[in-house]
This record gives sequence, C-alpha cells and structure tokens, in this order.
Amino acid sequence: MIEPRNNPAPDWHQATCYLNGEWTALIDAKVSVLDRGFIFGDGVYEVIAVDTVGADGARTRAPFRANEHFARLQRSLDAVRIDNPLRLEQWLDLTAEVIDRHPWPRQLVYVQVTRGVAKRDHPFPAGTVPTVFVSTSPWPTIPNEQIEHGVAAVTHTDERWLHCDIKSTSLLGNVLMKQYAIDNGASETVMLRDGYLTEGSSTNISVIKNGVISTPPKTVQLLPGITVDGIAHIAAQQGVKVDVRPVAVGELRAADEIWLSSSGREVLAIVTLDGAPVGTGPNAAKPGPIYRKMYEWFQQAKQEDARTWQAQRGGSAIKPHVRERAA
Ligand code: PDD
Repeated sequence: MIEPRNNPAPDWHQATCYLNGEWTALIDAKVSVLDRGFIFGDGVYEVIAVDTVGADGARTRAPFRANEHFARLQRSLDAVRIDNPLRLEQWLDLTAEVIDRHPWPRQLVYVQVTRGVAKRDHPFPAGTVPTVFVSTSPWPTIPNEQIEHGVAAVTHTDERWLHCDIKSTSLLGNVLMKQYAIDNGASETVMLRDGYLTEGSSTNISVIKNGVISTPPKTVQLLPGITVDGIAHIAAQQGVKVDVRPVAVGELRAADEIWLSSSGREVLAIVTLDGAPVGTGPNAAKPGPIYRKMYEWFQQAKQEDARTWQAQRGGSAIKPHVRERAA
C-alpha cells in the first residue's frame, strides 16, 4: 500500500528570490523588457525537487540530485554559449539558501540564466552580463489518486526543434503539447517523431515489457531527464533490466506498463493512452507491479540522496524556518 503524504498549502506570495546578486520579494522582482530571455527565450533553466525525508528526529529538506541538475545546467549553457556566471559551489550555496529562506517541506527550486539585457537584435550582444534568477515555490504533494490509479496520456507528433536536449526557456512547443493533453482530458502528451517515442511535454517516458524498462537514448530529440536517470540507476541496483534504445510506437501501444517521470511528478504510471488501456489482464489500465516497486524504491533513493547532500553541506544550511532578512 502506498501511503499518502501531507503537505500544507502555504502562501507562495511571501516567497523571496535571488535576482542578479540580490534577494528580493518574488512579487517585486523585475527584469528589463529588453532581457533576451523575455524577447527571444534566450536562456536556460533547471527545476529541482526538494523534499523532507529521513527518519523522525533526523528529517531534513534536501534537493534531489542537485549536482546532476547543475551539471545539466552547465551543458545547456555551453550549448547556447552563455558563460556560466557561477561556480558549482555557488549554485549549491544558492540552492541551500533559497530552501532555507522558505518554510515549505516540499519545494520546487527554479533556476534560470538568460543571455542578459541588450538592444533587440538577433546576434549575441557583446559584453552582456547574464541574468541569474533563483526562486522556489511550494511543491504540492503528488495526489495519491495519481499514484494509486495512474494518469491518462494522449499521443501527438513531436513538432519541436532538434535541440530538445537543451533545457531552454523557449518552451512554446512544450506548452502547446501540455495544453493539448489538458484539452483532451489527459495529464500528459506523449510525443512521437517518425514512428518513435521521444518524450512527454514536460516528462520523460519509459516503457515496460516483460519486466524490462526501455527508454529512448539521449539524443537531440529529448531532454536527458534527471528523474529518468535516477529510475535507471535504481532499476540497475534492484536488478531490473534497463534497455536504452529507440522505442517504436507499436511497442508503446503494446507495453505492459508506461511511466512518465520528472522532477515535479517523480514517477507516475500512464494507464490509458489515447483512451486505450495500457497493459492487459488484471493489470489493464492500472499502475503495474513494477511501477509499485519503483515508486517505493524512488522514495528510498531520495533518502539516500538526502544523506549525501547533508554530508556534503553539513546539514546546517537547511533549517525548517524562514530566516529573517537582513535590514
Ligand atoms: N520539466 N522532458 C521535458 C521536456 C521536461 O520539461 C522535463 C522536466 C523532463 C524531465 O526532466 P527532469 O527529470 O530532469 O525533471 C523531460 C521540468 C520539471 C519543468 O519544465 O517544469
């Protein structure tokens, strides 16, 4: 049985954020209309999940796989040729601080770097300083209904560009695909390119057949997800085979189980695809047996990861209260 977990709904309007070296109230934080992030979507970002894990008495808030998120941020920055404005240690300090400044047990830390402010013109401007923005928001508990009963998904042709491996803020293609899911009464759109699975509008997709997890290889067609990497790592530890290979649409439709994964949704079972049940027999249109195990393993993995974070950070930066702002 998967236990529901509680999370109060705090007022995120009281949030504070880091913008270009200063902490300010989130609702007051402003960037120029000439910021290239606003004008061109010329920026990259990360979303990092923070949960309170650990045994009673030693519970701690910790970001999941923070180092991996900042390694991917570096790859995104390199791909779009923006110099990383901060070192890894500084990013980790900022992450710890933004968590520390907010009371919420579950948070989604948001990190964005744009090419900065310049007169509108397509070429890279000379000497522009990147805009750095870090914020956090309460991360609502994943509805138990979704964990227990799964979610619906629809398919659509992947119409996006061929740099989906860059975590770019230019997300119009993804936004349209997410809305397509909502408009069709589903929770996610699973995208297909030339008869093969790419990813969801804001998730990676894994397919399970005969006990083997298959996920598409890391190409320019999809984001190398931190969560799906975590799943592959956990599966390997647990002796579940993971095949990284192209997944044809026919395999998707004949799968025993289909999972979506992302920082915000962790891992959820897709139980209907285009209205048809996923799986057969007693497991048809239900989260399958491997999903149920993976859900539990994933919660354990968060605990292990939190121990590493605490060991690295000394645990002192994470306190369950909001720190007073300096006058
Ligand atoms: N989205 N693919 C796409 C297109 C995504 O936008 C995301 C995450 C993922 C999963 O990546 P990860 O496991 O590293 O979160 C895959 C984030 C959460 C977002 O844009 O809000």
